[in-house]
Amino acid sequence: MSTTDPAAPPVNPNKALWEKGDFTRIAQAMRESGEELVKTLEIRSGLSVLDLGCGDGTTAIPGAELGADVLGVDIAANLVAAGNARAGELGLANCRFQEGDASDLSGLGDDSFDLVVSIFGAMFAPRPFDVAKEMVRVTRPGGRIVMGNWIPNDPTLVAQILRISAAYSPPPPEGFVSPMTWGVEETVVERFTAAGVPEDKISFERDTYTFVFPGTPSEFLDQFRTSYGPTMNAYAAAGANGREAELHAELDALFNEQNESQTDEVTRIPATFLRVTVEV
Ligand SMILES: C[S@@+](CC[C@H](N)C(=O)[O-])C[C@H]1O[C@@H](n2cnc3c(N)ncnc32)[C@H](O)[C@@H]1O
Repeated sequence: MSTTDPAAPPVNPNKALWEKGDFTRIAQAMRESGEELVKTLEIRSGLSVLDLGCGDGTTAIPGAELGADVLGVDIAANLVAAGNARAGELGLANCRFQEGDASDLSGLGDDSFDLVVSIFGAMFAPRPFDVAKEMVRVTRPGGRIVMGNWIPNDPTLVAQILRISAAYSPPPPEGFVSPMTWGVEETVVERFTAAGVPEDKISFERDTYTFVFPGTPSEFLDQFRTSYGPTMNAYAAAGANGREAELHAELDALFNEQNESQTDEVTRIPATFLRVTVEV
């Protein structure tokens, strides 16, 4: 007998991936750089900000603390709930989180935001041309979009985790566009120009996010193994082929090599990303 309920909505793999595990545990290692990045966004009281793929608010919450009206949108229901809980505990009435898909922001009106921020968020949504179009549509003329995107083949932590994991995972389904393509300047230009933005309004810079974890690099890897959906899937795929120990050894070497901290009490790993600014 089949256990599939024919009335159940189809599983959205993008949503399932990010609701898996508990990304808030990884996000805790990203707070310091999140706050630093937000300080560079010229946020002032009353600015209307959309944080897309906001997770539990690593950038949304500091933005609200600087006085902006912040809406965080994320596909993962558990992360939206965690963000609302954090905003509530901090008494931030100007910060709220709701579920949504960066590929289709149909619940949000045209020209609604002064600033749309997406730090390692919208890059993970399917249909990147729709993502660019939606970000441009909800930004008011004269406003800005700022994205942080991991860079393919970059030698630092996140690109390497994703590269190593891919080598142990089955090939993606046909038509799948890698999120890492958002880290290629020409591709980003193609997507935003298709959304109507002139090329000279799109600029790029290399920036760094530093992961800070209270423990050893191997303990930090354990957090990824138990809490970060993409890494959990890679371990499951490697395990199915009897290659889990091999994957673990490769990742453990990576985490230890990239650690810049001199003590066992804390791990500090810098990771390079592409910062994209679009003037709408
Ligand atoms: C690496 S996390 C980054 C979260 C957050 N921006 C931060 O810096 O901590 C990626 C986030 O993108 C969200 N995400 C993935 N696909 C999405 C989509 N299609 N629409 C909206 N959010 C999405 C995930 O749920 C997750 O919270």
